[in-house]
Amino acid sequence: MSEKTTSADRKDAHIALALDPLAMAAIDAGFDNVRLDHCAIPECSLEDIDLRTEFLDHHLSAPLFIGSMTGGTARANGINRALAELAETAGIGLAVGSQRASLEAGSSQHDLRALAPSIPLIGNLGGIQLAKADGIDLAKRAVDDLQADAIAIHLNPLQEVVQPEGECDWRHVLAAIEQAVVALPCRVIVKEVGAGIGLAVARRLFDVGVWAVDVAGLGGTNWTRIEAARCEDSGLFSPFLDWGMPTVTCLQKISIAMPERVLLASGGVRHGLDAAKAIWLGATAVSLAGPVLKALVGPENGPPDLIAASQAIADLKAQMELTLFLTGSKDLADFRSAPGSFTPIT
Ligand SMILES: Cc1cc2nc3c(=O)[nH]c(=O)nc-3n(C[C@H](O)[C@H](O)[C@H](O)COP(=O)(O)O)c2cc1C
Repeated sequence: MSEKTTSADRKDAHIALALDPLAMAAIDAGFDNVRLDHCAIPECSLEDIDLRTEFLDHHLSAPLFIGSMTGGTARANGINRALAELAETAGIGLAVGSQRASLEAGSSQHDLRALAPSIPLIGNLGGIQLAKADGIDLAKRAVDDLQADAIAIHLNPLQEVVQPEGECDWRHVLAAIEQAVVALPCRVIVKEVGAGIGLAVARRLFDVGVWAVDVAGLGGTNWTRIEAARCEDSGLFSPFLDWGMPTVTCLQKISIAMPERVLLASGGVRHGLDAAKAIWLGATAVSLAGPVLKALVGPENGPPDLIAASQAIADLKAQMELTLFLTGSKDLADFRSAPGSFTPIT
């Protein structure tokens, strides 16, 4: 994610570390605190359940996209091509990882658009990079290279601090986001990377005009743990290993306070039941990063296995359909008002 130095080795190291059990947060995302009421007479047929939705001016088979992960090295580009094929075939969106390394190396990921012509593609750049003198220009190039429908700006102050090469001066990032909203030819999403975006920050982001906030909360892939594994003096950061706000807490607070805003859910979504619960809590769409990577390259970090990854996406959708069926909801509009309850996480 952060790219202060030549980042090729780091990108590939991140892929390997993200597969390791040490990469998972010890605190869960909170989906088990959400209970949807069981409907004993669904009055619909499971095979007619309709997850289709519109997202970023494209039709999706379900409100899902593959979360921002990688790009910029030969291996990472190969993974992104596989993810593009996977997303196109499944009819779901694709967000790429930070494009800075690839653009600064003079390389391009424009082939992804050819592999995924009918789905939303979401570019990616760090907030800290956006705030630099050439940040807006870099963001324009990122959007252009991908022919992106939106760009996600990631906020990762904790990861940057723990990362040996990380950047700790976070001044002017909000102003840069405001500038990007005006200057870029596409919608701007702002996301965290696993520590969550809470209500106060979400308000500031919407106030400067961002289209959507992706909470990217605590409970899944944990970048503090991953970066701590790469640094020599990790003891300093041990109290902060599970710093952050669980995904469900972020979703619930923002959606209650700002129900009209576009909210995206990620961080610790384990399966289709969690994904459906995120939609029920107010998210427009849900993404998974680490779990898709694990399905694609396996625990051995092998070559992309599109069959295994396609099956994982099919299972995810089937679990979402089953959730709608068991709540007596024939489509997403019905499901959003299905009865259920939530125990706040203290
Ligand atoms: C290998 C890997 C690389 C990532 N790189 C980026 C990145 O470049 N930009 C970004 O915004 N998020 C990045 N993320 C964070 C994810 O988009 C997501 O916010 C986080 O992993 C939590 O979701 P998960 O629990 O489904 O993995 C990366 C995640 C993984 C697993």
